[in-house]
Amino acid sequence: MKLRIGLLLVCLVMSVALGLLLAQRGSGDVAASEDRKILIGLSMDETRGPRWKKDQEAFTKRVEELGGEVTVRVADSNDTQQIKDVEALITQRVGAMVIIPHDGAVMAKGVEMAAAEGIPTISYDRLITGTDKLDVYATFDNVKVGVLQANYLVDTLKAKGVKKPKIIRLLGSKTDNNAFLFKEGQDQVLMPLVAAGEIEIIHEDWCDNWEGVNAKRIVNAAITLHGHDIHGILASADVLSNGAVKALEEEGLTGKVLVTGQDADLVACQRIVAGTQDQTVYKPLPALARMAAEMAMKLATGKPLVVQAEIDNKAGMIPMAMAEIKNVTKENMMETIIADGFHPYDEVYKTVPENQRPPRP
Ligand code: GAL
Repeated sequence: MKLRIGLLLVCLVMSVALGLLLAQRGSGDVAASEDRKILIGLSMDETRGPRWKKDQEAFTKRVEELGGEVTVRVADSNDTQQIKDVEALITQRVGAMVIIPHDGAVMAKGVEMAAAEGIPTISYDRLITGTDKLDVYATFDNVKVGVLQANYLVDTLKAKGVKKPKIIRLLGSKTDNNAFLFKEGQDQVLMPLVAAGEIEIIHEDWCDNWEGVNAKRIVNAAITLHGHDIHGILASADVLSNGAVKALEEEGLTGKVLVTGQDADLVACQRIVAGTQDQTVYKPLPALARMAAEMAMKLATGKPLVVQAEIDNKAGMIPMAMAEIKNVTKENMMETIIADGFHPYDEVYKTVPENQRPPRP
């Protein structure tokens, strides 16, 4: 069932006055009861990358705290499987469904199947495009992720005095709308510099399914073509920096070529403090997962949602809720990742000798 934006006049007035969108589902046909907990469906693309397990854990915890129960399906990057997963969740009569699409365009069908059965849907982190039946999109500011990555790369290489840096760009999976948003943010920073001849993108490619092996293959190919004259690798996520750093290791280039990332994966944080990766973007996943869990429970019980923005998903304007993001480097590791308890101090600084670590919190 599709949300009605500004269903009541009073909602519209509030929206205008507060700059908020009040979204409400048609009816709440699932109610908590003694004998049946509210069941929330979670359809995931994959759980290979460490971030998605964190999302799943935090999401499930919050739904359970709110008295619900979560049923999870993982499609392993297979679109046919993900559609089957949605069918199975419909059969289980979930009260609301949260979808992390492998292919955002393909999953429009999943959203429409759920809507036809009166089940509201939330697109989680990645946008599902081409359907106006989607109830809400819960995400981070993905264009800003790309801006943070590219700004860090440009500013750091400039501070090091590198004239006209040569960079490789590792773009994400073409099936994921986020990959285009990260690129858009990076382009905002890079394209004026490319046009002015101040930076050179010597090689760039998309990494299918966000897999590190594909990132490594692309960096290997770039090194074969261009040799060691490379100053930076603009990797769109840590799962790609994993592959990039492996390729650099083979060439004895680790620590000599700047590497960016995203997700603050534990291995990436360890590389940052060890000096083999330079930056990542920290997206407090538990905050996003909790927000989505709360929205799912509200949708399942017909309660209104209040969100700050909306986004065009090529079929209509979809209500959108965004969580905050932060740039992370060696310098602010303690104030971000460690202070938030995102990863433990002992894990992050595992490979750094005791006397070279910052003081324990
Ligand atoms: C993106 C997501 C990133 C990253 C990537 C690979 O959609 O926004 O945080 O995890 O997928 O899984």
